[in-house]
Amino acid sequence: MADIRLCAFDQVPDGGALGFEATLRGQATALIAVRRGTQVWVYRNRCPHFSIPLNYQPGLFSTYQTRLLMCAHHGAMFRFEDGHCIDGPCEGASLDSVPVYEQDGVLWLAEVHNAPEQVHP
Ligand code: FES
Repeated sequence: MADIRLCAFDQVPDGGALGFEATLRGQATALIAVRRGTQVWVYRNRCPHFSIPLNYQPGLFSTYQTRLLMCAHHGAMFRFEDGHCIDGPCEGASLDSVPVYEQDGVLWLAEVHNAPEQVHP
């Protein structure tokens, strides 16, 4: 197995979010990356309220002041840095974190969290 290339670091808008799919443990999985400056965090794109994607429309995510990601369905607000819900119907719950690292301008998923299949940005 090898680490999996997710996307170019700069594809994640500073203060915003980028959705994409990757194969995690053999299953196609919707992910979302959020970025603040040189830091990026990746989560499964699944709201803990109803276990549905955080967005209504493909590729369209709502962020607030470079620090919060909002679920489009009932407005739950999640912190960029830990995916913790600080307001909304699932307050206290968290998004599922997917550990990644940046190297040479590329965002990578470590092999331990993935299967060696391809990524679909
Ligand atoms: S499904 Fe996300 S807040 Fe309800």
